[in-house]
Amino acid sequence: MPTRYEEAFAKAAEKFRRGAALAAQEGLIPYKSEEGRWIASPYDGNSWWTGGFWPALMWQCFAATGDEAFKAEARRVEALLADELRRFRFLNHDVGFMYLIAAGADAKLTGDEQAETDALHAASLLMGRFNPSGYIRAWNHPSQAGYAIIDCMMNLSLLFWASRKTGDPRFAHVARIHADTSLREFLRPDGSVSHIIEFDPATGARVREHPGQGYCLGSQWSRGQAWGLYGFTLAYLNTEDPRYLDAARRIAANFAAHIRPDGLTDCDFCQPPEEERLDNIAGAIAACGLQELAKITGDDAWQQAALKLVDGLLDRCCDWGASRLGLLTHCTASYHDDGAGRHTNITYGDYFLMEALAKLNGTDPMLWR
Ligand code: GLY
Repeated sequence: MPTRYEEAFAKAAEKFRRGAALAAQEGLIPYKSEEGRWIASPYDGNSWWTGGFWPALMWQCFAATGDEAFKAEARRVEALLADELRRFRFLNHDVGFMYLIAAGADAKLTGDEQAETDALHAASLLMGRFNPSGYIRAWNHPSQAGYAIIDCMMNLSLLFWASRKTGDPRFAHVARIHADTSLREFLRPDGSVSHIIEFDPATGARVREHPGQGYCLGSQWSRGQAWGLYGFTLAYLNTEDPRYLDAARRIAANFAAHIRPDGLTDCDFCQPPEEERLDNIAGAIAACGLQELAKITGDDAWQQAALKLVDGLLDRCCDWGASRLGLLTHCTASYHDDGAGRHTNITYGDYFLMEALAKLNGTDPMLWR
């Protein structure tokens, strides 16, 4: 008998197979779905940071089913993303999200050489954002030359991967310097992490923290907590440096303590109690990080926390309606800015839920390494 997680993955893969045909017809990269339609990214066209999640989702489905339709759709979008390498100016530190789990996944699963080259190209762009005073610059606005963000811990995986592929340690050196800065400047004593730290770009000295996508200065934006949890876990997998594992454990303990009784995740762990603002993407990301942490440490508490999250999402926030395209509901891009979506379906939420299910089912190809 298939488990509920196998059933959920299979049913979702079928939904996404239908959705893939529609996305290909429309020629867009799905960012979210609304009323049976795919909607493309709200900003920066195909250079928006989320473009890699749809092909990554296709690769998860391909790895589990072997259905060539998923491969074809992943490659259609990889070609669009490859064009963005030349357009270049909108790309930022999120090239890890955009290329490692799309082109890099293609290289991993099929051995495609051009896909590997595209991912290496992206790694070079990411390394080019390194400020030798100690951090990888997040965004491009001239006023943000000193901004580094916790999300970047996930993008470091592209650099570790590039060092392994090329035998050139520079990529991994840069990743470690940025991870060490994150350890020192982002991780708080209570196991939570800041979203944005601004440094003086000339000296690397800390200037201030910014609240970013969270509720307020010093609060705990839940997706940032999830990026930190999974990001430090991946940094440990890439380096075996116990300081990163310790950080991942501390962030995981804080995250697990804030999972709601219904298994869902508030948008910010410090938001007012009367505010009903969820971000299920955070829960889905954390469910992936926690499962990796359980494997590394052998501590079942992390696996149980992951199951609580996945069960909460499956029980309450999956839209199985045949006429609607996306799966995960109540995804929220940012606490105060609803422009990129509030309490809606968003494709990277779907991606991480599918990765979490794939890990439970034993089909996850581990696209982050
Ligand atoms: N990495 C951007 C976000 O999580 O919204």
